[in-house]
Amino acid sequence: MAKRTSKKSPGRRSSPKAGPRPSAAPARAASNAGGIGVREFVARRERVLRALKGAVGVVLAGDGGAPLVGRWRANPDFVYLTGIDNEPGAAVLFDPKSEDPTRRCVLFLKPLDPEMERWDGERDPIASSMRSRLGFRRVMRTYALPTFLQHAATRAKRLACLHPFASHAAPVSEDLAIFRKVSERVVGVSIEDATGVLPGLRAVKSPAEIRLMKRAIDATHEGHRRLCAMLEPGVDELDLQRALEHGFGEAGAEEAGFNTIVGAGRHSTVLHYRSRGGRVEDGDVVLVDCGASYRGYCADITRVFPASGTFSKRQKQVYDVVLESLVKTTRAVRPGVTLAELDAVSRAVINDAGFGDFYPHGIGHHLGTEVHDANPGGKLQPGMVVTIEPGIYLPDEGIGVRLEDDVLVTKAGHQNLSAHIPRTTADVEAFIRACRRTK
Ligand code: GLY
Ligand code: MN
Ligand code: MN
Repeated sequence: MAKRTSKKSPGRRSSPKAGPRPSAAPARAASNAGGIGVREFVARRERVLRALKGAVGVVLAGDGGAPLVGRWRANPDFVYLTGIDNEPGAAVLFDPKSEDPTRRCVLFLKPLDPEMERWDGERDPIASSMRSRLGFRRVMRTYALPTFLQHAATRAKRLACLHPFASHAAPVSEDLAIFRKVSERVVGVSIEDATGVLPGLRAVKSPAEIRLMKRAIDATHEGHRRLCAMLEPGVDELDLQRALEHGFGEAGAEEAGFNTIVGAGRHSTVLHYRSRGGRVEDGDVVLVDCGASYRGYCADITRVFPASGTFSKRQKQVYDVVLESLVKTTRAVRPGVTLAELDAVSRAVINDAGFGDFYPHGIGHHLGTEVHDANPGGKLQPGMVVTIEPGIYLPDEGIGVRLEDDVLVTKAGHQNLSAHIPRTTADVEAFIRACRRTK
């Protein structure tokens, strides 16, 4: 395998002594990347501190190097609390009982490593500019974490698991594994369950988060325009996907929020289809399930487009059942309802139309920084965003229809954030005609 090469000149690291980094060689800064302000990150951490009610908690970013394919992904809970998505090995320690207020919430970053940074990019030294950018009053290197945690445990005697518990077939969750070791070294320490805290916080979106999700939805709509401009029999699914994702970028999004699904004909009936170069035939429907990621927040929209520009009678019949299910289920979204109750609403429509055996998945999921976002379970509350995505899949007929919208729960009921993206067969056909004219 070819070695990666570094074009950076040596000796450019800035330090308090060396003065500011020359602008020609910017650092790979630990940063609140994205559109959420630093005060919101601080408020999120303060909510966790309060929820811990005096217990100690730790949230780890996860470890690993920069891969050659794709990018390293931090634990989404860690990103939610810090905005930092480029510091493998980092951690946040919550120590609510510390006498020193600057130590109640401490960020730990791995030590600088000039040799590794020649491969992966330079990182910032700890300095006041970093602390104020990240909203942490105390930032330490990870070699100090064991001592800080041991002191915190000795004081509080209660350690609370914030990471989700693992199944018995998987490794023990990271914080529980650490706490077990701590409890063997500090007498009288108990370990408790706080795994509901972060899903509960993450599920309720702030106005800033909802603004970013709307931008992700608009970028997804732009992707649809690019795809429909080149939609015709004979085109490759992968070419449609490339046009779609190019549209995300043109609208300011960074990337696709999850693996895009563009499936034509029989492929439209495969729930998580990945194209290997299938071709769109005349008379196919093309199911497009995709979502741009904008400053870390995802859209997740499914629409179905007829390759010819016009749905056949049979395609329209199936489509209209799914649309009725989508509309009725969306109307039922309000505070206090559960996803299970919404699932039953959607299924009743599809069962009554005789397609019950062809709707194999659930109605939807929470949406946020992850496409299948943290799910606190229970009743929906204002500020939560869920997908509503009924479907009917008829492999023998090569017809798969799923329609998916992103719906915000409001005090009064709901707001469909993707309502402006065409949904009826007439509107979809008109949209395709309009997009083709822009070619
Ligand atoms: N695209 C995955 C989903 O809709 O859940
Ligand atoms: Mn989807
Ligand atoms: Mn979905």
